[in-house]
Amino acid sequence: MSFIAKPEVRTSDLEAKAIEVFKKFGATSAFYGYRPSKGMPAYPGYICISINQEIVHGIPGNRRIKCGDLVSVDVGVNFKGYIGDGATTYVIEGADIETRKLAKVTYDSLHLGIKAAKNGGKVSDISRAVQTHVESFKYNVVRDLVGHGVGIKLHEDPQVPNFVDKNYDAPLREGMIIAIEPMVCMGGWKVSISKDDGWTVKSVDNSLSAHFEHSILIEHDKTVLLTVLDDGSEAYIPPEV
Ligand code: MF3
Ligand code: CO
Repeated sequence: MSFIAKPEVRTSDLEAKAIEVFKKFGATSAFYGYRPSKGMPAYPGYICISINQEIVHGIPGNRRIKCGDLVSVDVGVNFKGYIGDGATTYVIEGADIETRKLAKVTYDSLHLGIKAAKNGGKVSDISRAVQTHVESFKYNVVRDLVGHGVGIKLHEDPQVPNFVDKNYDAPLREGMIIAIEPMVCMGGWKVSISKDDGWTVKSVDNSLSAHFEHSILIEHDKTVLLTVLDDGSEAYIPPEV
């Protein structure tokens, strides 16, 4: 498959493509105008694009993708009143082995989390699977942002942390739709929000980060990936290290 995320392409070009696809299907962005809480600025983009040390919530603009970048593209869609939320981190050509490894470990942690999600289980089963894998590579999971229930609204209960939180856990039951989204830093997990745009979340120590997300449906005896192509395959899988 050939991807639009390539050196020299502007992040606004990726956004324009997403808008074109939304239009084609009669869908809208679940992010545009979103306010996480009263008093916060409304999100001004249609998708989020976060590069390198940026973790999530980057706003598309004139910036160009460069060789070796890690480009997280996060897309939330409202289609006929139902919301799907998914993200992938593209490894742009020329990335070094450490960069590629971060993407692969984050991707694998998402799938370990998905495997751990079971009817009758708990959110912490997912959190533990993600965290254990990530930390075995001496990387860190972000604490300040978490996965979430999704479906009618973008953010629903339960929260789905990527770390085991002894103060929070919730049961998983058939019929639930959740977005699992590991955000992984090569360095420490502390993050800060850009003072310039009020949105972009980056690692305080400027370490590289990667982010993958799927919305999944928990059924009685299996889970279904919802944020995939028509044939059930994923839009992007990072290269083997
Ligand atoms: N996948 C992200 C999340 O669930 C994207 C939200 S962007 C926002 O938090 F603009 F909608 F906040
Ligand atoms: Co999400």
